[in-house]
Amino acid sequence: MKDNVLIEVEHLKKYFKVGKKSILKAVDDVSFKINKGETLGLVGESGCGKTTCGRTVLGLYEATGGKVIFKGINIQTLKGKDKREFSKNAQIIFQDPYASLNPRMTVGDIIAEGIDIHGIYSGEKRTNRIYELLELVGLNKEHASRFPHEFSGGQRQRIGIARALAVEPKFIVCDEPISALDVSIQAQIVNLLIKLQKELDLTYLFIAHDLSMVKHISDRVGVMYLGTMVELATSQNLYEKPLHPYTQALLSAIPIPDPNIERDRKRIMLEGEVPSPINPKPGCRFVGRCRYAKPKCEESLPEFKEVEKNHFVACHLYDEKK
Ligand SMILES: Nc1ncnc2c1ncn2[C@@H]1O[C@H](COP(=O)(O)OP(=O)(O)OP(=O)(O)O)[C@@H](O)[C@H]1O
Ligand code: SF4
Ligand SMILES: [Mg+2]
Repeated sequence: MKDNVLIEVEHLKKYFKVGKKSILKAVDDVSFKINKGETLGLVGESGCGKTTCGRTVLGLYEATGGKVIFKGINIQTLKGKDKREFSKNAQIIFQDPYASLNPRMTVGDIIAEGIDIHGIYSGEKRTNRIYELLELVGLNKEHASRFPHEFSGGQRQRIGIARALAVEPKFIVCDEPISALDVSIQAQIVNLLIKLQKELDLTYLFIAHDLSMVKHISDRVGVMYLGTMVELATSQNLYEKPLHPYTQALLSAIPIPDPNIERDRKRIMLEGEVPSPINPKPGCRFVGRCRYAKPKCEESLPEFKEVEKNHFVACHLYDEKK
């Protein structure tokens, strides 16, 4: 099992200083592993720390605490050639295909950015690699000389994917790659990512706002709430038997296609505002909105632990388990 792990995130923290005295705990003690060839979905409301987590895992943000271990090596200790090798191996696809492509560069040059930075190919080999990448993502070589504004949202996201793939990465953080797209296009991009994963043996951390989006693509799913990971399980377990009150509420909000079931179903309303991640109180971050909250929940942060095989949860309701 251990041999199969590509990336291990241990007690990762990323804090931002706000003003003179305050600390914003964007990611606060988050742990998970991703196996080779696997997709781990990461979901949670806006501002819960998904992007910060993804960027810290990639080393784009310096961690405040904890470790990111890639192929058995702590990335914080990498230097020189090894550091460049990691930045080649670990790529990102961004949420907004409009903002993430430089409007003044041709599509070919955008895709070749990583190839140029790492000095992988030049001349004809570089051009051929650009053509190959365009075809891999469902575009064609005539597109190489055009500019981003000439493309639709879905096509731009394909360009973003080609750019990430150019340096033959092993691991890709897909940061809400379909949220900005029309619903009709979303499935096409998800299917493209699934196809590429199989062909190129890729490992994904797939970030999304809501659970319905990650269900199709993820082997396992982690749920974040206000900087912490509250639940992590296989997709099937998480959907069929959510343990954390927050996950239960998120799932109850997803409409079921069958109108008979949908009509009789009870929605769990999430009451109260998402609290601020600045100087959080010591207890469970979900306490103000939780219908099971008890005094203990105000006092101490529940431990994130495995309560059933491969099913992790951070909630005092499960303190007696294991
Ligand atoms: N560079 C930064 N400086 C200060 N605070 C930041 C910075 N980046 C993010 N934050 C804060 O950290 C918290 C988590 O932000 P993050 O962007 O990671 O959330 P997210 O889950 O990706 O949200 P969304 O779904 O809206 O993309 C937010 O409160 C945000 O305001
Ligand atoms: S620890 Fe308490 S407040 Fe937090 S989710 Fe569990 S029951 Fe609710
Ligand atoms: Mg984000």
